[in-house]
Order: sequence, then C-alpha cells, then structure tokens
Amino acid sequence: MKSESQFYEKINTVICRNASEASEEVARHVINLIRQRAEASRPVVLGLATGSTPLLLYKRLIQAHREEGLSLAHVITFNLDEYYGLEREHPESYWRFMHDQLFDHVDIPKENIHVPDGTVPRDEVFEYCQGYEAAIAAAGGLDIQILGIGRTGHIGFNEPGSSGDSLTRMVTLDRLTRKDAARDFQGENAVPRNAITMGIGTILKAKKIFLMAWGQSKAEVLAKAIEEEPTAALPASFLQRHDQVTFYIDQAASSELTRIKRPWLVGPMQWDRLLIRKAVIWLAMERDKPVLKLRDEDYSEYGLAELITDYGPAYDLNIAIFNDLQRAITGWPGGKPDADDTHRPERATPKQKRSLVLSPEPLVAEMSMGATIRRLVSQGHTVTLAHLCSGNLGVSDRDALHAAEFASSVIAEEDTVATNDGSSRIPVLKELREKSPYQEDSPTVRDFKGLIRRSEAMTTGRALSLTTPQIRHLDLPFYEKGRYRRFKPLDEDVDKLVELLREIRPHQIYMTGHLSDPSSLDAVSFGLFRQAVEQVSQDDWWEGCRVWLYSPADALMPCYVSEMSVPVSPDELHEKVKAIYSYHSQRSQVPGVDNQEAWDVARSLGLKAAEEIDALGLAEYEALERFQRWYEQV
Ligand code: F6R
Repeated sequence: MKSESQFYEKINTVICRNASEASEEVARHVINLIRQRAEASRPVVLGLATGSTPLLLYKRLIQAHREEGLSLAHVITFNLDEYYGLEREHPESYWRFMHDQLFDHVDIPKENIHVPDGTVPRDEVFEYCQGYEAAIAAAGGLDIQILGIGRTGHIGFNEPGSSGDSLTRMVTLDRLTRKDAARDFQGENAVPRNAITMGIGTILKAKKIFLMAWGQSKAEVLAKAIEEEPTAALPASFLQRHDQVTFYIDQAASSELTRIKRPWLVGPMQWDRLLIRKAVIWLAMERDKPVLKLRDEDYSEYGLAELITDYGPAYDLNIAIFNDLQRAITGWPGGKPDADDTHRPERATPKQKRSLVLSPEPLVAEMSMGATIRRLVSQGHTVTLAHLCSGNLGVSDRDALHAAEFASSVIAEEDTVATNDGSSRIPVLKELREKSPYQEDSPTVRDFKGLIRRSEAMTTGRALSLTTPQIRHLDLPFYEKGRYRRFKPLDEDVDKLVELLREIRPHQIYMTGHLSDPSSLDAVSFGLFRQAVEQVSQDDWWEGCRVWLYSPADALMPCYVSEMSVPVSPDELHEKVKAIYSYHSQRSQVPGVDNQEAWDVARSLGLKAAEEIDALGLAEYEALERFQRWYEQV
C-alpha cells in the first residue's frame, strides 16, 4: 500500500538505508523464487544487468550458494545487453563481467546462460536479435528482471528516444553514457559506439521487475522516472506501465523525490533545523523572493502553514534562517584569528591550523575546493593536499603516447651517441605504439600514466599556491591492483591513511565521497577514510579535529546542508579555472555534465552556488565553494 508520503510516486519505491540493505531485499526475492521453483522442479528465468549497481546482489547470491546450500542449477539467465564489437574475453565485455561477478562462482549450467553476442556480423544482427527474443519466450519469459538506471534514464541500453515497445536490437550509445564508461575503457574514444540490448518492450514483458540505484548522481533521473509522465525522453519512466515493478534505492539516490525533497507537501512533519532551512530556501526559490521578503501568506499558500504556525510569524522565521545562512558564509575556512567564533563555522584557535585535504584522486578536491585551498594557504595554515589514488586509469592512451614520444625525443636529442632510437630508452613507448584500443594497460603503462597525472597534479597544485612537499601522492595499493567498479580495498590502504593522519595530526580534514555510488572511487575512498578515522579516534589530537565534506567534482552541494560556504572572488575563480585548465590529461575525461570540460564544470557549479545565495537575498558573490560538517560518531 502506498503511503500518503508517496503521493507523487507512480512506481512502488522502497528507500533503504544503504545499498547493502537494498541489495539484500532484492536478493531475498530472487532467492525465494529460486528455492520455490526448485521445490516444484521448474526452471526460473532471470533477466540480469551489469554495471556497478547489481554487484552486491550478485555477491549475496554467491554467498547463498556457498554458505546456504542454494543451487542455481535450474536457473536460466538472459543478460540485458552487450557492447557491440567487443570479444567475450575483453575485460570490459559484459560477458566477462557476468562471469567474473557471478557465473564463475555459482552452478548455473553454461547452456542456461545467455549474454547478447557483441561480435555478430552487422548483417546478421537483426536475425540474431529476433533469436534472442525467441529464446526468452521459449524459456517461458522472464520471471524477474533486474535493472540499473543510467544517468540518461536508460534501462538496458535503451537510450532516450527508445520506444516503449522496442525489442532486442542494435542501438547507438548516448554521449553521456559513453562518457560515464570512459574510465572503464581508459578514454572515451575507446568506448564502443553501439550495443545490442533487450528493448523496453522485452523488459516490460517480465513478470516482476526490480530496479536498483545508488548514489546522488542518480537522484535527479530517478525522481523524473518515478514522478513525471512516461516519456521516450526518459526510458525508465516507461516502467510505470508495469504493475509489478519495485525500485529499491539508497538514501542518496532518493534525495530528489518529493517525499524527501519537499516532505511538507506529502504529510505531517517533525521539523528540525535542516528541514526548516530546506523548506524556507525552497519557498524563497518557488516564490522567486529573497528570504526576508517572504510573508505569512507565502508560507500558507505553499503548504507550509504548519511551519509558520509553530515557528512564525514569517518575520521571525525569515530572520532566523537569513542569519543562519549568512553565518555559514566565511572567507576564513581555517577560522578567523582573534574573532568571536560563537557563530562561525570554524574555530578561531589555533590561529594557524594544519589542514589536510584528501582527494580520492588528483583533481577531485582541486575542482570542488581549489579556491578554498588557495585561501587556506594565503591565511597561513599548513595545508597538505593528499591524493589517495594515482588516477592512472584516467589517462588516455593518446595522452600517454604523446608524453612518451616527447620524453623519448628529449633523451634522443641529449644522447645522440648512445642511440638513434629514443624508444629504447623509454620502453613504454614501444608498448604504447603497439597497443590496441581495447587492450588493458600493463603495469608499466599504468606506472607511466601515473607519472603523467602526478606531474599534472603538481602543476595544478602549484597554481593553487601549494609547494611541492605539500602535495602528496599516496598511490593506494587497491587502486593500482584494480579497475573501476571492481576495486577491493585492503588493510594496507587503511594503514597508509592512518599513517598520514598520525603524521599530520590535522585540525581540519576535507574529504568527499559520502553520497557516491558505493563502488565508485570516491565512495571506496570514503569507506577507507572512515576506517582510518576509527583507528585514530582514540588519539589525543583527534578531539581537536573537524571533518568537512565537499561535493564530488561534478555535483553541487545543496544550499540547505552547507554549513560553510567560502566566497570566491572573480580573480580567485580565474586562478582556480587556470589551475584546472593546466591539468591536460583530464580534459574531456571528467564524468559530469555533458559536453563540459573540467574547468567549465567547476566554474559553473561555483557560479551557480553564488547565484542561489544572491537569489535568497544574501550578498552577491562571484562564486562559492560549499562544505558540510561530518558529525558521524566513530
Ligand atoms: C547494464 C545496463 C545499464 C546499467 C546502467 C547503470 O547491463 O544495462 O542500463 O544498469 O547504465 O549502470 P551502473 O550500475 O554502472 O551505474
């Protein structure tokens, strides 16, 4: 039964505490059906997805198989999709992915496994796809279809524009989808342009559908799919046509749903400081009025009568919120020396703090809080910027080849006697020249790419006023041994972080990743950070340490959660943009808003934050960088 708070939702949606709990719920349904069918000696047909989203579900199925005697011998599977042009054994093929993540660890008979074949000759694709549909039908149809959702709103690879009746076919991937996959393929150019996918019509024929989604980056598209009218512009919205669909999502992914974003519209409220902030900011935006000009009528007409009754009149509430927002804005992110700090985000003492900025990989912190880093340095704090991972997977072969050719020509110039063949001095050059677009990087190539990122990070760091020793590279081992979406954090990663924390004994730490998809680099890094904090939480210095969270590089922290906003002047913004601009290898690589470069993303998010503050009737700044306190008890 839908509750009152789900009034706007046209799809049954369950918000779970985190991705593990949600995956557990879905696993329960799947496991129950597998057991029921086993008892009845009937097969069960599962439609499966790849990507980061179902990883925990597959882990749970493997665990049930190993530890709880679950047999999958009568399970028949059909995967949603496959990149066109990839051999099965390619590390990024969905065939490979499914074998690594599930099939190799359970007892599904080989002949029961179906993953679309990405190597079918073009002129046979049509027939092949008809055969795939026929095979699903012959197996009795899909009992359960598992789905993730792309940021374009795609399900399977049904990109915007797909018809609700579409069947299995060859499709062209959306630019945003290819951009999101760029890291897996070490550059957007290597991402296949086409895929074979089940259609929306195929998916809708399944008896039950479970869609899962994690992390802030899915929030907007989910809210549209769940609450707006079905449209081909957002393929997942067609799931509204099915009466046996449930979405299982985590809290970060639920943040744009009406019941979370504007809960006062859908039920009784228990107000707290953040919710009041949220409501007043929302009302000011809706009414297009500065906070101080909101009237009692505005509150009542927009469903906030209860708020104004309990906390009004408008005059008092407006001033309280205005002051609250104003106090969060500070040009002194390390605290203002000798000032009364009762209402300031940071403490005045000690005057000079040790600030530790942690960045999951180079450029994340620089994009999100580059101007704050410069400010902390100029205000005399001892700043260390530590990149947790080398980021070598984010360098394209083209950039690596360029760097290797340059290095080899320098050596050849300087040492003409020794050899005419510079390439012999730079062994990686030969490897890069011979590398095929889909080939995985060898450790030598990864090391070399890491050096490129390191030198670029130094250039960017210096442009943000840091000196060479202030820029640290932890090169955490889990990253060096892994690939995107498949990182497995290790104890030695936590040890390295603990060592850094104990060496610096910071008064402030800046970190991100708390709202990201659990398999993303940001979230894995945040998990390691949390473990490291657990270990140092008994140290004497820890009590004097404050943790500030910044947003991922491509997202804006909502105004209402921000407890520290650092103004950025036009010149400071220019310096920050210049610093990011000099980070050459990440041009066109940073996942984010389509067709925007890293510096452009950072710039526009900063401007947008300032525009919001201006619209609320606070001071008019060029740009702002926002932070939130991390209060979690360890
Ligand atoms: C995967 C698939 C896609 C993904 C979607 C989300 O087989 O068809 O629709 O489910 O792109 O990807 P992740 O889970 O990686 O965020």
